[in-house]
Amino acid sequence: MELEECITHRRSVRSYQDKPVPEEDIQKLLKAGAMAPSARNLQPVRYIVITNKEKIKDLSGKVKEALSSLGDKYGKRAESEEDLIFYEAPLLILLVGDKEKWTKNDCALAAENMMLRGYELGLGSCYIGLMNKIEEDRETLSSIGIDEGQQLYCPLIFGYPTQWPPPKTREAKIQKRIE
Ligand SMILES: Cc1cc2nc3c(=O)[nH]c(=O)nc-3n(C[C@H](O)[C@H](O)[C@H](O)COP(=O)(O)O)c2cc1C
Repeated sequence: MELEECITHRRSVRSYQDKPVPEEDIQKLLKAGAMAPSARNLQPVRYIVITNKEKIKDLSGKVKEALSSLGDKYGKRAESEEDLIFYEAPLLILLVGDKEKWTKNDCALAAENMMLRGYELGLGSCYIGLMNKIEEDRETLSSIGIDEGQQLYCPLIFGYPTQWPPPKTREAKIQKRIE
């Protein structure tokens, strides 16, 4: 598959089949992340791979709890019986790292590599920024192996979509060209 097709067809997927991602594809996603550029080539991104359904459901519950304390804005997501946080995806990969200046950027670059590679492998994906609502919950973070002094940067879900959202058309919003 051409890279251009991955870039134009990748979409955030919010509905997944109940089908695990094969280990060899998990390894390919991780490799795609590892190949991303990083500041001073320090390669600071660490990956926490969660395939345990109960654990993902448990984390979803923790995020919902945090959202429900924030009032109406997140009401539906917080109260729904459905998993409107991780969308019952079979695979959650957390990109974490130290609190150094560029690590957030390094994680974001790795994340996009992984989502594009995922598309090539037939996997839908979505960046779950809402998980940041539990970024101060040390007990929960420790339970999934995020060490003291580390930050959760990019939570990503992957899995086989029940259906693919249609491709979007987008144009670069050029502010200025200097020739
Ligand atoms: C930093 C960031 C945080 C996001 N957080 C969430 C999220 O918590 N839940 C969700 O469903 N989608 C989340 N998304 C997905 C965006 O909503 C999505 O990328 C955007 O609507 C564009 O759609 P597309 O990815 O299909 O092109 C996030 C995306 C980014 C880049």
